[in-house]
Amino acid sequence: MPATLHNGNAGRVTATRAAHKAIAALRAAHGRPVMFVQSGGCCDGSDPMCFPGGEFALGEGDMLLGVLDGCTFHIDADLYQALGRPRLVLDVEEGTPGGFSLAAGDGLRFVTHIQDPDETRARTHPPSEELIMKAAVVTDFGKPLEIQDLPVPEPGPGQVLVRMEASGLCHTDIHAAHGDWPVKPQPPFIPGHEGIGPVQAVGAGVSEDLIGQRVAIPWLGSSCGTCRYCLSGWETLCQSQVNSGYSVDGCYAEYAVADAGAVVQVPDGVSSFDAAPLTCAGVTTYKAIKVANVVPAERVAVFGIGGLGHLAVQYARLVGGFVTAVDLEPDKLGLAHKLGADQIVNARTHDPVEEIKKAGGADVAVVLAASAKAFEQAYRSLNRGGRLVMVGLPADNASINVPIFETVLGGISVIGSIVGTRQDLAEVFALHAAGRTQVIAEQRRLEQVNESFDEVLGGRAEARLVFEF
Ligand SMILES: NC(=O)c1ccc[n+]([C@@H]2O[C@H](COP(=O)([O-])OP(=O)(O)OC[C@H]3O[C@@H](n4cnc5c(N)ncnc54)[C@H](O)[C@@H]3O)[C@@H](O)[C@H]2O)c1
Ligand SMILES: [Zn+2]
Ligand SMILES: [Zn+2]
Repeated sequence: MPATLHNGNAGRVTATRAAHKAIAALRAAHGRPVMFVQSGGCCDGSDPMCFPGGEFALGEGDMLLGVLDGCTFHIDADLYQALGRPRLVLDVEEGTPGGFSLAAGDGLRFVTHIQDPDETRARTHPPSEELIMKAAVVTDFGKPLEIQDLPVPEPGPGQVLVRMEASGLCHTDIHAAHGDWPVKPQPPFIPGHEGIGPVQAVGAGVSEDLIGQRVAIPWLGSSCGTCRYCLSGWETLCQSQVNSGYSVDGCYAEYAVADAGAVVQVPDGVSSFDAAPLTCAGVTTYKAIKVANVVPAERVAVFGIGGLGHLAVQYARLVGGFVTAVDLEPDKLGLAHKLGADQIVNARTHDPVEEIKKAGGADVAVVLAASAKAFEQAYRSLNRGGRLVMVGLPADNASINVPIFETVLGGISVIGSIVGTRQDLAEVFALHAAGRTQVIAEQRRLEQVNESFDEVLGGRAEARLVFEF
């Protein structure tokens, strides 16, 4: 039996983006995971090398160094010691597969490199023995986030370790970093709750079948599973819930751990880039439209056409609503129009209440702007029987005036709506895979996190920003 390392060491082997792509192609061709075996120095100078699984049997001294996209990576234990317990990087380069290297697609072959030991030593925190990752960290409320090298977290019992491919920037992350809300996170922490990537390792009690599967880490990091809310499909209301990127570290990092029961599988038809915004912006607005019970030909006013709003417009249309989009930025309104909004209102130049009333009034108003004023306007734009769905979360525990007489006589409902369940997210993914929704997002690097926050706050992002790794 080959010796195996603890799962937590799975991150000892990583791969470049090109190598990940090549592995995915190989897996598709083989229809199952392949295996890499690393057992000597290479004759052509690329050190060390890899063999395809199956061609070479595992030797007595081979041990599992890690799992990459569901492919196991083994190394000779003596070689591993002799190399100084290195971290290996699987890469591809041009060339034909020699005797010792595996073909990686068109004119490419796999090679492995030892991660530069100087680079590892230069990182004083954590000790070089640990695996490190880049993360954007809130060190104090209102301060710019810091890009830090931190240990790759180990998946605890019931958890999975996810290698991030895409991680969306939700306005909630900005509220978190500013300490805007009555219940605050505790710096230092890593924000982010729209994290997508393959499971790299699993903790105790979690099936290894999950390894290699692409999952989404949502805001609901875990819930108790036994309370009346959890039992009735309302785990989003669980009072023992943990929130990713808020009460526990989140997805603005190369790796994140998450509760295996809370992550949601991402279907093949949804790219990681699109899946990221769907994981909060999508599921939240989908749920908001669901709880509003919109029926065809009702008018749905969407206040705030940002990350959430651009998807809200689409879900409101999917259920047959006429959509009024309200924002302060002409570009956002242009986008809403392109996505099918029937009416657009610039609240900077026009009174949205008046404009919506002119169009017959709103039966449902979904408020996604982080501004109390928008909530007041949304309330006043409602018809009798109307539903105000509160989703945006302005700073300072803002409140609005809800006149009792009008609310009672008008049969108005005021509904708070918080994210959505795992089942809601699975539905959101299914709709997207079927081509029913469009994600509008721009790619950013994690190092651009502070500029990205400014873009969102300044209303300059088209819709969502997504960090890609
Ligand atoms: N309830 C939930 O489950 C939940 C989930 C995710 C996000 N949120 C909250 O929703 C809000 C929006 O998040 P986002 O990521 O879409 O933010 P965003 O910044 O991408 O979008 C907000 C939009 O509101 C617009 N806006 C600002 N003031 C306005 C006003 N007075 N009238 C009309 N439009 C206005 C902005 O121009 C922007 O387009 C945040 O407060 C966030 O914390 C809530
Ligand atoms: Zn969010
Ligand atoms: Zn519960």
